[in-house]
Amino acid sequence: MQIKSICCIGAGYVGGPTMTVIAEQCPEIKVTVVDINQSRIDDWNDDNLNNLPIFEPGLAEIVEKVRGKNLFFSTEVDKAIEEADMIFISVNTPTKTYGKGKGMAADLKYIELCARQIARVAKTEKIVIEKSTLPVRTASAIKDILDNTSNGVQFQILSNPEFLAEGTAIEDLLNPDRVLIGGDMSNSEGKKAIQALVEIYANWVPKEKILTTNVWSSELSKLTANAFLAQRVSSINAMSEICEKTGADVQEVSKAIGMDSRIGSKFLNASVGFGGSCFQKDILNLVYIAKSYGLNEVADYWEQVIIMNDHQKNRFSDNIVRTLYNTVSGKKIAFLGWAFKKNTNDTRESPAIKVADNLLNEQANVVVFDPKVKEKQIYQDLDSLGTRSPEENKEHLTVLNDPYRTMENAHGIAILTEWNEFKDYDWKRIHEKMKKPAFLFDGRGILDRTKMEEMGFAYYKIGSGN
Ligand code: UDX
Ligand code: ADP
Repeated sequence: MQIKSICCIGAGYVGGPTMTVIAEQCPEIKVTVVDINQSRIDDWNDDNLNNLPIFEPGLAEIVEKVRGKNLFFSTEVDKAIEEADMIFISVNTPTKTYGKGKGMAADLKYIELCARQIARVAKTEKIVIEKSTLPVRTASAIKDILDNTSNGVQFQILSNPEFLAEGTAIEDLLNPDRVLIGGDMSNSEGKKAIQALVEIYANWVPKEKILTTNVWSSELSKLTANAFLAQRVSSINAMSEICEKTGADVQEVSKAIGMDSRIGSKFLNASVGFGGSCFQKDILNLVYIAKSYGLNEVADYWEQVIIMNDHQKNRFSDNIVRTLYNTVSGKKIAFLGWAFKKNTNDTRESPAIKVADNLLNEQANVVVFDPKVKEKQIYQDLDSLGTRSPEENKEHLTVLNDPYRTMENAHGIAILTEWNEFKDYDWKRIHEKMKKPAFLFDGRGILDRTKMEEMGFAYYKIGSGN
C-alpha cells in the first residue's frame, strides 16, 4: 500500500511536531495538518517563525524547511480527509468535567466527532490512526462509528501512541526509543495497514525499534508508560519530604539509587510536582478503568500517585508561608517559571498554577516571569480554577518580562520551572535588591546551596534539609 497523502486532525503539541517530522523524513508524502481553531492554524502559517503556536527546540527550523513544500496547515478538514490515504487523529482528550466519570474518565467527544466526520466525508479506503492517548478499547468505538455511519467505505484502525516529551519533542521524534503500532493482525487487510505505517517510520527509525502489537496492548502500553513515569516522580518526591526531615539530600539519594542499573538514573529529579497534559489525565483514566472493572485495589494504588503529587505542590506553598513567619499577606513573591517544565510554552497542569493559587489565597502579591509563556495564558490558567474573579487575579498577580524586575523588592523567590537561564542569573545582584532576609525556594533543585548561602540567601531546596 503506497501512502501518498497524510492528514492529521489536530494541530496541537502532538500533531504539529509529529507531522512536521514525518513531512521532513518523507518528502514524497503530502502531509496536511488540520484544525478547527483558525487562529492556531494562522499561527502555524505565520511567516514569523517566532509566532508558531508551540515552542519546541528545533521545531521552527524544520517547519521553515518543509512548510509549503509537503507540509500544509489548514482549517479545511473535509478536503484534507478526502484527499488522505492515512488519517491521524490527534485531538485533545481532556478529563471529563461533567456527568459519569467526571474528573476521571477521558472525554472522548472530540474523538467521536472526528470519527463521524471521517465517516461522512470519506469516499475511498482510509487507514485511521489514533495518536492521542486514549482509554483502552477506544479503537473499537472508532471502528464502530466508522463502520456504521460511512457509505460502505473500508477503514482500518491503528493505534500509534506518541511517546514524545515536550521540550525534547523533535529529538524524541527523530530518535525514538521505540515506535509502537497496534492493529488487527487477524486478517490481511489489518496486516497491510500496519505494514503501511511501519514503512513510513522505517524511513528514519531502525526497524528493530518499530514494535507491532494488537490494538489493546498498544493502547494500554501508552497509559502504562505514563503511569510508570509519573509514579517514579511521585516516588522520588515522597522521598524528598523524608530527606527534608532527616537532613538527607534527595539529589544524593537519586544519584546513589540511579547507579543501580535495575533502577536507572533518568526521571529521578525531585520537584515541586509533575505537570503536563498527560500524566494526571492518564492516571485518572487508568483509575477509572480499574474501578469500572471493580479492581478497587488497583485503582487505589495508582490514585496515590496523584495524591502524592497534589501534596507536593501544596507543601511547597505551605513551606513558603510558614518560612515567611506564617504570613505572606501583602508580601511580594516572585515566581521564576510558569511552564510545567523547561523548553516548552505549555502550562497545562503546571504546578505553578496551584502554588500561585494557594499563595493568592494567603493574600500574597505574586509576580511571574517565564521566558516563553505569554501573560494571557497565565491569567487564563488562573482564571480557569475559578477560585476568584479574573479582576481579583489581575489585581494580585502580575506578569513581567524582565526577570530582575520580577525579583526586585521581593520578600521571597520561588523557582517553579527548571529553565537553564535561571542558573546563570546574577544572583548577587538579585540578593542585593531583595527584601531581607532574602528567601529563595528552589522547587527544582537547580541552584547550589553553598553559593546561595554565601551570598546571604535563606535558601530552601526541595528534598534537602536545612
Ligand atoms: C510525558 C511522557 O514523558 C511522554 O512520553 C508522553 O508522550 C507525554 O507525557 P511530558 O509531559 O511532555 O511527557 O514531559 P515529561 O518530561 O515526562 O515531564 C512531565 C512532568 O514531570 C514535568 O512537570 C516534569 O517537570 C516532571 N518531572 C519529570 C519531574 O518532576 N522529575 C523528573 O525527574 C522528571
Ligand atoms: P495535544 O497535546 O494532545 O496535541 P492540543 O490541545 O495541543 O492537544 O491539540 C489538540 C488540537 O485538536 C487543538 O488545537 C484542537 O483545536 C484540535 N481539535 C479538537 N477537535 C477537533 C476536530 N473535531 N477537528 C479538528 N481539530 C480538532
